[in-house]
Amino acid sequence: MNCLVVYAHPNPESFNHAILETLTGALRAQGHEVRIRDLYTAPFDPVLRAADLRAAAAGRPLPEDVRREQEAVAWAELLAFIYPLWWFDRPAVLKGWFDRVFTNGFAFRFDERGIQGLLQGKRAFVLVTAGGREADFEAIGAREHLLHPTTEGTLRFCGIEAVTDLVFYGVPLADDAERAAMLERVEALARSLSP
Ligand SMILES: Cc1cc2nc3c(=O)[nH]c(=O)nc-3n(C[C@H](O)[C@H](O)[C@H](O)COP(=O)(O)O)c2cc1C
Repeated sequence: MNCLVVYAHPNPESFNHAILETLTGALRAQGHEVRIRDLYTAPFDPVLRAADLRAAAAGRPLPEDVRREQEAVAWAELLAFIYPLWWFDRPAVLKGWFDRVFTNGFAFRFDERGIQGLLQGKRAFVLVTAGGREADFEAIGAREHLLHPTTEGTLRFCGIEAVTDLVFYGVPLADDAERAAMLERVEALARSLSP
């Protein structure tokens, strides 16, 4: 399966980076083809600017960096996203990647007939780390909302129904054994994909 892994963490020593290595290693070991987008090093501007909006409105070609990302998304059968929860949401670079790449006419169609997702048939993994413990989120009734901007507002909106998520809570306080168990779950997720 063609897998595009979109990774949004600035620190190569982070736990998120360990998740990236574990997921991509396990996918490749299963025979999947993997491409990685590291959004902190990729030649991609994550800010949607007036020029993008004007080009889209006038039906002009999109900027080269956006077209390159759209080609990768079109190629992928699995889209995997790895990121830390920052202010209850995605890091800005990932939000900006969606803003620019998931355009009207590419990822969805929005016209007088309504909204139609255009990425049907793809699968998605959403792997997120959080500083808070699961009980902290449950206490404020927020647990099920953590991923909504990505899983519902973006991926399912664009027609991707098979969305699987893993949330790792309390990462800054987790000891080595707990981190190893988290990475086991990442490997098991990769193994759950049929070749
Ligand atoms: C700017 C920023 C915002 C954060 N916002 C949240 C938050 O809203 N909820 C939360 O549980 N943790 C939050 N955290 C903690 C991170 O999610 C946590 O440190 C990270 O997931 C741990 O993974 P890492 O070691 O790979 O960075 C935030 C951290 C930073 C730097």
